Amino acid sequence: MIADVGTSEIKKLAGTVTVLLLTGSSDLNATLEAYEAGVAGFIAKPVRKDELIDVLSSCLGLTTPASDDGLRDVDFVRINLEEFVVGDQISYDVYIRLTGSKYVKIAHRGENLSSERLETYRTRDVHFLYVQKTDLKKYVAHAAEVASERIRSDPSLNAKGRASLVRHTGEIIVEQLFAENIDEESYSNAKKFVETTVSTLTQDVNALTLLSLLSSHADFVYAHCVAVSFVGTLLARQVEWTSPPNLFKVAMGGLLHDIGLKEVDIAVLSKPRSEYTADEARLYDSHGLRGRDILSTMPNIPTDIIQIVMQHHEDCSGNGTPFGLKRDRIHPLARLLSVADVFCELILKNPNHDGIPPSDAIERMNQLHRGSLDGTFLDALALVFKVAPAVKKAS
Ligand SMILES: [Fe+2]
Ligand SMILES: [Fe+2]
Repeated sequence: MIADVGTSEIKKLAGTVTVLLLTGSSDLNATLEAYEAGVAGFIAKPVRKDELIDVLSSCLGLTTPASDDGLRDVDFVRINLEEFVVGDQISYDVYIRLTGSKYVKIAHRGENLSSERLETYRTRDVHFLYVQKTDLKKYVAHAAEVASERIRSDPSLNAKGRASLVRHTGEIIVEQLFAENIDEESYSNAKKFVETTVSTLTQDVNALTLLSLLSSHADFVYAHCVAVSFVGTLLARQVEWTSPPNLFKVAMGGLLHDIGLKEVDIAVLSKPRSEYTADEARLYDSHGLRGRDILSTMPNIPTDIIQIVMQHHEDCSGNGTPFGLKRDRIHPLARLLSVADVFCELILKNPNHDGIPPSDAIERMNQLHRGSLDGTFLDALALVFKVAPAVKKAS
């Protein structure tokens, strides 16, 4: 039976028959109300045969999907509504998540998704949108394109707005690189991001404003990689290593430096090193080499970037991993990124600790790591964050 009914009728009907909602995809208010009233499924207009069959199969008990498309939590990537990049003729479907891990498609691929439409969702207390993991690459490509275009040509965008846009793009790029094998397309998205980062961070960005943006993100691994890329770029600028190839390698090396961690279980990454088993410690310590192996399959990645990734846990005193190289044998850009890496580890919150203020982090690095980190970049870090001159190593 097809009927045009209100929520009170849905409530009455839902107790006796299965009610499906046929809805325009932008009509979110009606969708949410109908869901609360007890509808069993949603069919977005225009109706597609495969979706109709999926929903009917689900309602008739022929399948037991968690969403109208048979998709579950693990199939989706969550994106903050505030940061979601809108556009014309999007090349991916967009969903919202209802209670009970139920997902409703609110925009079909090929549709225009406007900021006005997102605004209506925001007024309904929707905080996140979702795209399928298999579509993430398309969303990333679109977001990277929009970010670089806006940064180039939108005069209303201030320094904070630019940094925020670049941060969002960076995090979803890293998320995609962790979720899938790196290939030409994902590398070219990362390349576009890096070029935008470099141009943004060599303008009038305030380092502390940038850090406050970075620390607001929940996923600590992705946020860390983007932060190392940003801080590394600021360090390179401070020491005047500002040739375009150098800046590119620093920003890309920062983004990719922990790519080898994609082979380490998140449960291991979420606990302190002191609780690692011997096998877990070995696995963790091999992430530089694993990163090298992952990137070596890409023909167009500069060798320096592979070296940076492999050596970012080497230590100037010769006690680092994987090879125990001493200062002069470590790639200079790896020494630079090691400083950015330790700094970002200290300032950003993760499951093992709350982040500490940049000035405390710099003081601690000077006290504890002056012998293992390169002093040139430690001093540059203090200058970037306008912290008092370095505390010299105790004799
Ligand atoms: Fe690392
Ligand atoms: Fe790291």
